[in-house]
Amino acid sequence: MRILGIETSCDETAVCLIEARGEFGPSFEWKVLGNALISQAKLHAEFGGVFPNLAKREHAKNLVPLLTHALSEANELRKSSTSYKLRATSLDELLSREPELLAQLKVFTTKYGRPSIDAIAVTYGPGLEPALWVGINFAKALSAVWNIPIIAVNHMEGHIIISMVGNESIKSQVSSIKEFEYPLLALLISGGHTELVLSKEFGRYEVVGQTRDDAVGEAFDKVARLLGLGYPGGPEVSRLAAESRRQGLPLHTLTLPRPMLHEDSFDFSFSGLKTAVRRLVEDKQVPDEDRMGIAREFEDAVADVLVTKTMRALEEYGANTVVVGGGVSANEYIRKQLGAACQLQATSCKLLVPPPELATDNAIMIALVGYFRALKNEFADSETLAANGNLKLG
Ligand code: KG4
Ligand code: ZN
Repeated sequence: MRILGIETSCDETAVCLIEARGEFGPSFEWKVLGNALISQAKLHAEFGGVFPNLAKREHAKNLVPLLTHALSEANELRKSSTSYKLRATSLDELLSREPELLAQLKVFTTKYGRPSIDAIAVTYGPGLEPALWVGINFAKALSAVWNIPIIAVNHMEGHIIISMVGNESIKSQVSSIKEFEYPLLALLISGGHTELVLSKEFGRYEVVGQTRDDAVGEAFDKVARLLGLGYPGGPEVSRLAAESRRQGLPLHTLTLPRPMLHEDSFDFSFSGLKTAVRRLVEDKQVPDEDRMGIAREFEDAVADVLVTKTMRALEEYGANTVVVGGGVSANEYIRKQLGAACQLQATSCKLLVPPPELATDNAIMIALVGYFRALKNEFADSETLAANGNLKLG
């Protein structure tokens, strides 16, 4: 089965085509046929975070060029020989709010024919609603033009699945499922989410812990700003922290809190940690050496909290597999600490991480979830499909 994936929930516009076969299990195999992504991070940098209307505009501008690129890579860009007879709703109606996208798509559909695709998987939440709508309307338009069904995908499930099936690199020819056992515990850490999710079987999820204020990625981004670093802040803070460790710089008396570390609940809180960093940097020029120390202590504090809570939840729910996903799972230090904690576990605990290039948002994870939904005939109704910014797992 061939699935076109579309992702526009935040500041990455992404389109891909994957081919997959087999049920969720040892028979499952998949590969990437074409993949294209544009990150808007630089554009949002001056706002210190994602600016929804700018994201929406950029998605609308990027989608057709990305589709063209992904299909061309997959050898699916065929010159059109037929004119399309649209079903009940016309393109103009579907894309009335995205005139630029509409104009580009009209050109595209007169130039190129229907590719060999079985379904279109699109993120419908969680995320920024104006941004989500662009991807959804685009999927609806393609579905109408090509007469192909749509699958509505939860972005967070994408972050879980990519860790279960992603090889070291997306350039691998064919990938399959990694070996692991249910129940599993997923630690989802991104710019908008910090959640511990229990899954006892494929496709079923229960959120057992979540942040009460800032998400981890958001905390990294805010601390980066306080330290005068760029956006997205995660990689920048991490780079500084690694440099401090490499140089073996002493931390002196610098300590930051580990919020909610000793509480029974599996919830998190990161805004106090960010405020503690603010107090350290306020009113004074921080020398470079201290900035490195603060970045390192911040990353240490985050890793301590994430690892301790995850391991505690693992025992509580009798799980043996930890899946880490979301943009912050690209963080090498957090991965290392989680791996070390798993090794110390009495039971042989397994840690599943995403390929580094697919830790942050992408369309491949969306297409993968779409494939498993398509196997179960779980298609969306194009008429009623709507964005849900607060979509939950489970
Ligand atoms: O999953 P993602 O791409 O988008 C959302 O769905 O939010 O996650 C983006 C977040 C940003 O906050 C970014 O700073 C963070 O992931 N991030 C990192 C690293 N790479 C990205 N945080 C810490 N260390 C990293 N290496
Ligand atoms: Zn994400």
